[in-house]
Amino acid sequence: MYNIAVIPGDGTGPEVVREGLKVLRAVSEKFGFEYELTEYDFGGDRYLRTGDILPKEALEELRHYDAIYLGAIGHPDCPPGLLEKGILLTIRFELDLYINLRPVKLYPGVDCPLKDKGPEDIDFVVVRENTEDLYVGAGGVYKKGTPDEIAIQESINTRKGVERCVRYAFNVARERNKQNKVTLCAKTNVLTYAHDLWERVFYEVAEEYEDITADYAHVDATCMWMVKNPEWFDVIVTTNMFGDIITDLGAMIQGGMGIAAGGNINPDGVSMFEPIGGSAPKYKNQNVINPIAAIASCQLMLDHLDEKEAAQAVEKAIIHVVSEKMKSMDAGKMGYGTDEVGDLIVGAI
Ligand code: IPM
Ligand code: MN
Repeated sequence: MYNIAVIPGDGTGPEVVREGLKVLRAVSEKFGFEYELTEYDFGGDRYLRTGDILPKEALEELRHYDAIYLGAIGHPDCPPGLLEKGILLTIRFELDLYINLRPVKLYPGVDCPLKDKGPEDIDFVVVRENTEDLYVGAGGVYKKGTPDEIAIQESINTRKGVERCVRYAFNVARERNKQNKVTLCAKTNVLTYAHDLWERVFYEVAEEYEDITADYAHVDATCMWMVKNPEWFDVIVTTNMFGDIITDLGAMIQGGMGIAAGGNINPDGVSMFEPIGGSAPKYKNQNVINPIAAIASCQLMLDHLDEKEAAQAVEKAIIHVVSEKMKSMDAGKMGYGTDEVGDLIVGAI
């Protein structure tokens, strides 16, 4: 019996979450497990109505679930960053969801903008550190609004934080058992304090994994290789900021934001699963947004809950539907409505 908190959130979040939950129901019936859902209405509408962003008690409650399933956060009528920081980043930080796991996998039949690259070339996982770096909000602004303004935004990197992330990445590579390789993506030629720490810790941890090759690529080169030779990658481990950037590129080479899923993971606590695209407010309530990313996030959640068979069934259904049925991964061009895509997945399961 799993207790799952659901945060549909803003924009198209509720629509894609609805389809993800349909799929969850289907696999629970097929594979015989039970769950209970508790919905939380955090997001822009609640903020505009009540002024609440993420009440402290709710944050405490969230710790006690088996998983959290999130749609999207971000509302055009709210100040930029307010909800993102106040909800999404607060949950990541306070619940110590220190891994952001973002698979980049191109499925057969899905359009890829890379010439001459196919599903056999694009299958890797980005392990993004999720609680440190520039995201901590350390720094300050002085003499704001004057010609002498100074803005400082500090990248915080702790040995413990780096080490647990790097170790997680090596374990992912071992579990995947594909190329058995982890690539550290950093910028050691410029960030000679912070990324020197990353590099030293990376090679230290690598010594414990003799079966896994430790590889290094600067972040700019990583972007180049992700386009030119994505087949070189198996597991990429990287900082919070670089991970944010390269996973949008990753989403594009796997077919777009409509298909890219992610997990915010605390291996010793509760974890949260979300499609990595935003709330796409312009598509809200039009039944045109692609729910596959949310359904794939549900698959990651099932895998994390150790419902391996159910997770595999969802992935098989996704592969069937994206390769045999859907015309495109882009909103409005799928050949089906949001709800119909969910129904197709359920049918395939
Ligand atoms: C993501 C998003 C968030 C991030 C934003 C919304 C704060 O871009 O999950 O990648 O930067 O981590
Ligand atoms: Mn991002």
